[in-house]
Amino acid sequence: MLFDISPKERREDFYDREGELRSLVEALRLGERLVVVYGARRIGKSSLVRVGVREIRAPYVLVDVRKLYFEEGSVRPAGFVAWLVDAMRMRSKWYERIGFRLGDALSRVRGIHAAGFGVELELKARPRLTEVLEALDEWCGEHGWRFAIVFDEAQYLRFSNTRYDGIIAWAIDNLPNLTFILTGSEVGVLREFLRLEDPEAPPYGRYRREIFLEKFTPRQALGFLKAGFKELGLQVRGAELEEAVDKLDGIVGWLTLYGYKRSIRRTPHRKTLETVFEEGSRIVLAELSKIIEYSKARYTAILKAVAQGATRWRDIKTYVEVRTGERIPDNRFTQLLGNLVKYGYLVKQGDEYSIPDPMVKHAVKNL
Ligand SMILES: Nc1ncnc2c1ncn2[C@@H]1O[C@H](COP(=O)(O)OP(=O)(O)OP(=O)(O)O)[C@@H](O)[C@H]1O
Ligand SMILES: [Mg+2]
Repeated sequence: MLFDISPKERREDFYDREGELRSLVEALRLGERLVVVYGARRIGKSSLVRVGVREIRAPYVLVDVRKLYFEEGSVRPAGFVAWLVDAMRMRSKWYERIGFRLGDALSRVRGIHAAGFGVELELKARPRLTEVLEALDEWCGEHGWRFAIVFDEAQYLRFSNTRYDGIIAWAIDNLPNLTFILTGSEVGVLREFLRLEDPEAPPYGRYRREIFLEKFTPRQALGFLKAGFKELGLQVRGAELEEAVDKLDGIVGWLTLYGYKRSIRRTPHRKTLETVFEEGSRIVLAELSKIIEYSKARYTAILKAVAQGATRWRDIKTYVEVRTGERIPDNRFTQLLGNLVKYGYLVKQGDEYSIPDPMVKHAVKNL
């Protein structure tokens, strides 16, 4: 169902994105070793990756690094391997469906045992990540498989004493049967973590395929809503769909929530929009609060300024200083603005700043 609100896994539930999907599938078919998927929050990164690997029936594992970080408070190596094995365990049905014997592949690693098509980790075992990856690669090489390792929201790997960028670079050089797929909604942060532009950094100079997910165009957004309602056999007025697209923009996550509430909950158009904005704002503010924790008043004032129409550095700064009642040194202010861009809450075009997500705009106005 197109309006299902969990990340999609099946092609038929996933609207359009043909070019992006083709690119991902091609990378896997060609045996490329690193794919990076960038895109704002709720734009469909996790869905794209799941649909892509399943399209070609590739064995894969997906580690939600953001979730790991928020549940464990850091990304420690032992915890990371346990999460990886757990994520593999959750995919055992998929391995069985495609005939991939993960248990055989990993039973060479001390502390890991085959369990059906999946694996289990001994309670006290502490295998190293490199050891697990090496075993997997070797077995895949011998049996003609390519295994995709997905680190969803990979920028959270930076919260660790372990240099995961180094491990990934090592794996790309030495493990030809694995493809790493990294996604990130904090585009600037992920690029900084991977240090793709830094000649001193491990991943530098390695070939990678980069896929950028953009918002749906108004036409695509409208097409998506129409297709979703049609699938459910519901008649809806064109003008209402146009309003929904106008308000929610081409962010598929919000459009999906609208479609879901309207069709499953059967609430009328206006009421649905209202609840989408209410719920959406809550989600946005919860995410935002973790990011702006350290300079809350200043970040909040910046976002409010832009939400209310200030677009230039000078105007935003004036607003922020009046609101917070303090003078902020120019370079510090530039840095704060830059951080919001890096995290995807602002975009800068020429000399002008704007908020790309209507939900963020709505949420910060009420702060
Ligand atoms: N092409 C698509 N067709 C239909 N639904 C989609 C599509 N892309 C994403 N969705 C839906 O939009 C929502 C967000 O998708 P997803 O979780 O894949 O995005 P994301 O970019 O990974 O978001 P986040 O930044 O929150 O991790 C989900 O409800 C998903 O089902
Ligand atoms: Mg995601």
